[in-house]
Amino acid sequence: MLQNKNIVLGVTGGIAAYKACDLVSRLKKLGANVNVVMTRAATEFVTPLTFQTLSQNPVAVEMFQQPGSWEIEHIALAKKADLLVVAPATADMIGKIAGGIADDLLSTTIMATGAPVLLAPAMNTHMYQNPIVQENISRLKSFNYRLIAPETGRLACGDVGEGKMASPETLLAAIVKLLIRQPDLAGKRILITAGPTREAIDPVRFISNHSSGKMGYALARAAAERDAVVTLISGPVGLPRPNNVDLLIPVESAAEMYRQVMAHYQDQDIVIMAAAVADYRPKAVSPEKIKKTNNGLTLELEKNTDILLELGQNKGNHILVGFAAETQNLLEYSREKLVHKNLDLIVANDLTEEGAGFGGDTNIIRIIHRSGQVDSLPKLTKTELGHIILDKVRSLLEPAAAL
Ligand code: CTP
Repeated sequence: MLQNKNIVLGVTGGIAAYKACDLVSRLKKLGANVNVVMTRAATEFVTPLTFQTLSQNPVAVEMFQQPGSWEIEHIALAKKADLLVVAPATADMIGKIAGGIADDLLSTTIMATGAPVLLAPAMNTHMYQNPIVQENISRLKSFNYRLIAPETGRLACGDVGEGKMASPETLLAAIVKLLIRQPDLAGKRILITAGPTREAIDPVRFISNHSSGKMGYALARAAAERDAVVTLISGPVGLPRPNNVDLLIPVESAAEMYRQVMAHYQDQDIVIMAAAVADYRPKAVSPEKIKKTNNGLTLELEKNTDILLELGQNKGNHILVGFAAETQNLLEYSREKLVHKNLDLIVANDLTEEGAGFGGDTNIIRIIHRSGQVDSLPKLTKTELGHIILDKVRSLLEPAAAL
């Protein structure tokens, strides 16, 4: 996802420097090229060798070291960067940038770059709340520096409050957002289904599943960020309406979802069925609450229409993406679904993996293509995965864009 992206990571002298190691490793996993620049104080907390090993690049610290090649280091890095991240950013570094001081390699690189700069402050609560620091932060924002607010928690000094650096996961999400959010789906019409369906048994009971809707909503948000025209058809979930979604249609049952999907299908360029549609519904819905007796209760179920199968039988020029949630034979079952339902892509979830599947904020997926290609992704947030899935969709719209 971050292939061909050059990220310069500035590390300044705070205990949160150790979290920057995790960040480098996550960035590398996504294919980024990472160059770490440390302040001298940062090297007191983590050695340059750690960052060198993780980033697989030399680590720059000194302004006037003998250059390995005839490039002026701070200018070379400043030019090369697609994004400059400072994590952790100490009060000192924030003050320096806000004051226009450039007296070491990192501060000169920041001053010389035309790339966006993202700062992750980390410091003691009282330092963070100091009006001078707050004024410096406001000044930086006015010059379009991006800041990721620190979190509240127990700090290394023992104080509890604001000042803890945002987690590597939060930082990664912000970096991905800055680097890959292009309006590259502008004008494309995309229909996304999300959440579970509920199949009524009687007025108070239903059959459903554990889908939280988070993956579908993340996809809808991601598509809206990329300027697509988004229709979201959602089963019952406890999630807020995603920003900038054009049409949100709430539904309860698979039959309602079927009707709404069909009513909007012809207008769409892309359909992503992220919903966990119930395969069966009770054959008869009791109009009154079913009373308990001394015997067991047998429910007769009948099949719901397979929405995606029907879309695939009327595929036309649509791009169709399905999901497969499995507990065994993940790739085999998912491939079968891709073929049977005539899909372009299927997103395969192994529900037995820790950090994957329903409910959580992360997922572990494989994206299977019609050609047989399988993209195996590490554990990532559903937000990040939403964008990765859309990257693949986009490459199908315009094969040249994938190069
Ligand atoms: N799907 C659908 N309509 C249904 C059932 C599923 O459109 N009635 C869609 C889902 O939204 C998903 C894909 O089909 O994108 C695969 O769903 P899944 O439940 O994994 O597979 P099934 O085809 O239902 O097969 P099984 O439950 O036997 O694994």
